[in-house]
Amino acid sequence: MEWRSNPRRVLVVNGPNLDLLGRREPDIYGHDTLADLEDRARRTAADLGLEVDARQSNHEGVLIDWVHEAMTDHGGLIINPGGYTHTSVALRDALAALPVPVVEVHLSNVHARESFRSHSYVSPVATAVIAGAGVTGYDLALRFLAERLVRQA
Ligand code: DQA
Repeated sequence: MEWRSNPRRVLVVNGPNLDLLGRREPDIYGHDTLADLEDRARRTAADLGLEVDARQSNHEGVLIDWVHEAMTDHGGLIINPGGYTHTSVALRDALAALPVPVVEVHLSNVHARESFRSHSYVSPVATAVIAGAGVTGYDLALRFLAERLVRQA
């Protein structure tokens, strides 16, 4: 018996500065806004039989509290930790505690940019990592989770 409140509900968390999508360095991050990205994720999820709970915060502690929610309330987590990818041991520790699959997504190819972006505290505790596919990366992450969750069911 599945004890999770809704195993087909996926938490999609975007971290710092991703609220500026569409206006922030569009040559790197594209022209879609955060609202565009979240709408698209909801549509993709619906096609896959999933439900998306989308959130964004610029604050590390808030992101960590949301990750804790996914311990009981979601079947999987997609996270773009923004700059915290490269700095946050605390976020990494929260993700490591999760019993559900975690997909780390980056809009840009972090490995083709400044060298400090090549190191991620999150990748070693992520189930899968997608970088450089733009907003399509969230679709790919949802697709991966849909297959995982069906296999587990
Ligand atoms: C990012 C890459 C990070 O290095 C950067 O700090 C971001 C966005 C991406 O989606 O490509 O804020 O996570």
